[in-house]
Amino acid sequence: MKRIVVLVSGGGSNLQALIDAAARGDLAVEIALVVSNRKDAYALERAVHAGLPTLYFPLRGYADRERYDADLAARVSAAAPDLIVLAGWMHILSPAFLNHFPRKVINLHPALPGAFPGTHAIQRAFEAYQRGEIDYTGLIVHYVIPEVDAGEVIAQTVVPFEPDESLEDFERRMHRREHELIVRATGLALGIAEGFR
Ligand code: GRF
Repeated sequence: MKRIVVLVSGGGSNLQALIDAAARGDLAVEIALVVSNRKDAYALERAVHAGLPTLYFPLRGYADRERYDADLAARVSAAAPDLIVLAGWMHILSPAFLNHFPRKVINLHPALPGAFPGTHAIQRAFEAYQRGEIDYTGLIVHYVIPEVDAGEVIAQTVVPFEPDESLEDFERRMHRREHELIVRATGLALGIAEGFR
């Protein structure tokens, strides 16, 4: 059974998609550890409810990011992951972390390659649509490299905008697509995907 470690910072709906897919047998993985940099992340509640090991690992108290990233890498390594999945993880990981896991860290980013890197990508795409600049956006899961939201794309989905749709409804539609993509991309990255649904 492949082992994954999931890094979270927020609500954890993408973590929940992985938990549910593993429980359904759609994704033959064991979630060995869920790490959050935020104590109040609901994602931790989801992990505890699913009986998964959790680690709260805050940046606070660290003089520099490299030390934090190196210590985080040691804690993650201890879980012996085959793959590390960033599911709403909101810290930029430096080589002090990434160098320990070459081509073993993947990240879900709610935009197409090169478009809207960084935070609030869904909202920024929606605003670009409202300005008439784009008529579709999308999602990618990519290998993580030091450059933010760059790296080789493992899987992507195009999401067209719908006229007169509210931001809330659009966000709900995007999150539903995220939940599908993160499961499919994790399977692909581990070489255990059962074809393309
Ligand atoms: C998602 O939109 C993800 O793409 C972005 O942060 C959000 C995380 O949502 N990076 P959740 O914590 O998985 O619900």
